[in-house]
Amino acid sequence: MTDHIEITRPEAHPGVLVLRFNRPDKKNAITQAMYQKLTAGLLEGEQDDAIRAIVFLGTEGCFSAGNDMADFLGFAMAGAVGEPAAFGLLKTLTEVTKPLVSGVDGLAIGIGTTLHMHCDLTVASDRSLFKTPFVDLALVPEAASSLIAPRIMGHQRAFAMLAASEGFSAEQAREAGLIWKVVSPDQVEAETLKIASSLASKPPAAMKIARALVKGSPDEVRARMQEELVHFVAQLKSAEARAAFEAFMKGRG
Ligand code: COA
Repeated sequence: MTDHIEITRPEAHPGVLVLRFNRPDKKNAITQAMYQKLTAGLLEGEQDDAIRAIVFLGTEGCFSAGNDMADFLGFAMAGAVGEPAAFGLLKTLTEVTKPLVSGVDGLAIGIGTTLHMHCDLTVASDRSLFKTPFVDLALVPEAASSLIAPRIMGHQRAFAMLAASEGFSAEQAREAGLIWKVVSPDQVEAETLKIASSLASKPPAAMKIARALVKGSPDEVRARMQEELVHFVAQLKSAEARAAFEAFMKGRG
């Protein structure tokens, strides 16, 4: 399995499982193998009674640049796209019952932003950038972001983020309700783990019920993910998307 996702249980934070993006040379862009390992990590945390909170972290200056563009181009060239591994991760996100906490320092692009819509508390450094250039890439919103974002931030801000591909600073993301707290870059990991530890120390059955009540039924979220996927896969195969991926890959190794 890929070592571009690190799965650890920090000794200083009992009950916490950390899933870390660790492909800094490619800005933590997510490959199919990384989606599979993230999914496996989420299931590991969900199924182990010793784990009471699951954390997503990136590396210094970068949470994730989103889906690997070479994989996108591969899908576009192949013409026939099966269900991308990303969908397995998204489906699993709707099934997890334990608190999800994320910590962002720097770039959070595409699913690097929409992932936090499934997290319960997100900490970000003041130099972070949240951006979903779906339409710029001739793609469409995913991860049920088209449902969740308007609910949390209203139509205009959701449209600015998901359709106009406007970047949000950490402070804008906090004001929009996408994230919980803004700290300095050197505090992101400590603060994220502190929050996760605190959640992990609380009565787990009550936490599970409280979280489920706050989140509401996952059925609508799953249905929207499926609806988005149909459009996403169709757009992946389009000439306009292929041109956008080729433009990004041009001149890169
Ligand atoms: N997929 C694959 N590789 C990626 C990537 C991605 N999503 N994002 C960055 N990389 C790679 C670059 O190709 C480059 O690799 P190289 O050194 O082998 O050429 C390396 O990561 C560094 O990226 P670079 O573009 O040089 O860094 P930057 O700081 O100038 O810009 C970004 C960073 C994230 C703004 C820019 O890389 C970018 O726009 N990436 C695409 C993000 C995106 O659209 N994701 C999909 C969302 S749906």
